[in-house]
Amino acid sequence: MAIERTLSIIKPDGLQSGVIGKIISRFEEKQLKPVAIRMQQLSKTEAEGFYAVHKERPFFKDLVAFMISGPVVLMVLEGESAMQKNRDTMGATDPKKAEKGTLRADFAKSIDANTVHGSDSVENAKIEIAYFFRGTEQTGYEWKR
Ligand code: RTP
Ligand code: MG
Repeated sequence: MAIERTLSIIKPDGLQSGVIGKIISRFEEKQLKPVAIRMQQLSKTEAEGFYAVHKERPFFKDLVAFMISGPVVLMVLEGESAMQKNRDTMGATDPKKAEKGTLRADFAKSIDANTVHGSDSVENAKIEIAYFFRGTEQTGYEWKR
């Protein structure tokens, strides 16, 4: 297994529900180490650019509107198989279908307000990390625990 980096976003509903700390704890418990973190209010242009792959989909407008409805927490997570591990930690897109114990099952209210974003391939993770973080904003450190 390889050490990878992946992009995670805590969406506006996660901030409004006051679960930033709980979400980061879940990542740390699963050996997903945050190596960059920033809270930010995304502009419409930034959100549209980030989700550009979905621009022809019927839910695109609602998705962008939701992502700019409040600040988000942008994070780079590092760990073994970080991309897949993060996706498994998040659960299914629709919280009604997400497995118990996943972030979306436990914290999300709807398919729009689904609390977290995670890169869906190692290749996309690289693109998404570069979209939000310069190399100098990403750190590296070892856990001693
Ligand atoms: P994300 O990109 O946010 O991590 O979510 P995902 O991979 O699980 O799902 P994706 O297919 O990439 O969709 C991006 C976001 O669009 C909203 N969506 N709504 N109404 C719908 O059918 C629908 N499908 C997707 C969700 O908020 C999803 O997270
Ligand atoms: Mg996606």
